[in-house]
Amino acid sequence: MMSMDPQELLSLCKRRGFLWPAYDIYGGLAGLYDYGPLGAALKKNIEEHWRELYVLGEGFHEISCPIVAPEAVFKASGHTDAFSDMYVECTKCGETFRADHLVTGLHEAPASLDEKQLGRLLKENKVKCPSCGGELTDPKRFNLMFRTSVGAGKGKVAYLRPETAQGMFVNFSQVYRFGREKLPVGAVQIGRAFRNEISPRQGLIRLREFSQMEAELFLHPDHKSWPRYKDVKGQVLELVPNKGKPVKMTLEDAVKAKTIANEALAYFIWLTYKFAIDVGLDASKLRFRQHLEKEMAHYAADCWDLEADIGYGWTELVGIADRGSYDVQAHISHSGADLTAFERFDEPKEVEQQVVRPNFGALGPLFKGKAKQVADGLSKLHVGSVAGKDGVTVEVDGEMCSVPSSCYEVVLKKEKVSGRKLVPHVIEPSYGVDRILFSVLDHAYTQKDDYVTLRLKGLVAPIKAGVFPLMARDGLDEIAGAICNELTKAGLAAYYDDSGSIGRRYARMDEIGTPCCITVDYESKKDGKVTIRERDTAKQLRVEIAKVPRAVETLLSGGGLEPVSALR
Ligand code: ATP
Ligand code: GLY
Repeated sequence: MMSMDPQELLSLCKRRGFLWPAYDIYGGLAGLYDYGPLGAALKKNIEEHWRELYVLGEGFHEISCPIVAPEAVFKASGHTDAFSDMYVECTKCGETFRADHLVTGLHEAPASLDEKQLGRLLKENKVKCPSCGGELTDPKRFNLMFRTSVGAGKGKVAYLRPETAQGMFVNFSQVYRFGREKLPVGAVQIGRAFRNEISPRQGLIRLREFSQMEAELFLHPDHKSWPRYKDVKGQVLELVPNKGKPVKMTLEDAVKAKTIANEALAYFIWLTYKFAIDVGLDASKLRFRQHLEKEMAHYAADCWDLEADIGYGWTELVGIADRGSYDVQAHISHSGADLTAFERFDEPKEVEQQVVRPNFGALGPLFKGKAKQVADGLSKLHVGSVAGKDGVTVEVDGEMCSVPSSCYEVVLKKEKVSGRKLVPHVIEPSYGVDRILFSVLDHAYTQKDDYVTLRLKGLVAPIKAGVFPLMARDGLDEIAGAICNELTKAGLAAYYDDSGSIGRRYARMDEIGTPCCITVDYESKKDGKVTIRERDTAKQLRVEIAKVPRAVETLLSGGGLEPVSALR
């Protein structure tokens, strides 16, 4: 297999109905693509397999949250302040570029540099506009979120979500309750995310609207494992740690050597590898790269990217991070909501803990008849939600009451307790669907002379079988049509084609990655058999018509034609 010129792959995708530049008749808009019928089917198959692994396989709960979210969510998450990249503008042609991308190769972690450092590096290396050679401005920050407003008139500031993750963090309590109040518990979401990328020039790799499949595993801070870790800990993976050389090691050794921070993270790195191989990525063109310390968010305990070698070079497809308690704690602090889990002790314990104590002396004059209810509300608050604030908001009979900090204090209290509240830690595998899809196509692409074959795996191939009558007459067309119906009934997407030579029809199917083709000929009318041809070997076998759906299923599950010939 070979990586290819991305432009050639994009042109195949356009020609054969995988991808189209969006809104093309109006000149298009950079960073937006339409999926044509084959692309949409391929995307759906990739997403379905991911769902199968995470939801059916690991028992994560799938939820679906709105794309538009209020400003408060992103103030809490830090996106309004910090979700930005730096750009430079050409003073001659006006084009904009991501400043850190222009110094690739000149610094080991360009994304860690601030405006001044980047500006200096650009000047020292006399970097000019890559399009016209013009002078570039100094770098400036640009927030990547799409801002909008909700409602008539001035409306309320809102943003299109830049990741699906926040919907899961803010719903921690709902997911926790749904999962019978146990840790670990996981949520997943598949959906669109939006980033106003500065220079989206790399097809599906840098889109302004894209799809993510994200999982949030909420766990006990002291028990960062996953039940199935024990089944895979002996698996060997090739790792590129941020210190030392690339190593091949078992997951167990990697955790023991602290190369990977914990067992849960190791498990989801392995699951990501399994997913990648299942959907057809080429193992020899994949690597897990640990973030450099400078690259890692300050709160992250560890972070690994699955990268694929494609026509654009090494490209991040998935990020798998141990985010500590950062996200949930941020939403506790900003919303005041009690997004904690409860850890029950084996036996009640006498503990001294910090609690919020209402100050009745101050509450009475301020809230009069409602003082008791406000006090009850205050007592239920988690100390994390009042720390460092001038006041908090408490709901009384559906009304939000602003309570100044003079009305409560944080005190140490001794009591017998049956357990304790804790803020869960989060391990987050975050997959970019479009980048995965493009890499699957890149790794599947093979060319011999002018003949192109996409060696897509049966699991993801948009069409599972091409069905051809040798001639579109004499009843052969009817037999082929009936076979198509049977395949479709069995849930196998089939494509009927009666135009051109059989060779041309094979070529059309090979170019879009169809794993097998079935030809109905005049013999079929006599012996009730058809020819099934396997794409990757071009081997052929006669199969009874009634067995065709099972034969196709068998072929799709791997192992070639031999198991097909053994079908009874
Ligand atoms: P990069 O550094 O390449 O911009 P990132 O580190 O910002 O990527 P994350 O924020 O970790 O990416 O997003 C999680 C996943 O979402 C990525 O691994 C990637 O597959 C996908 N993704 C992020 N940004 C884009 C984009 N603009 N277009 C397509 N996919 C994206
Ligand atoms: N949720 C990880 C990311 O999209 O940045």
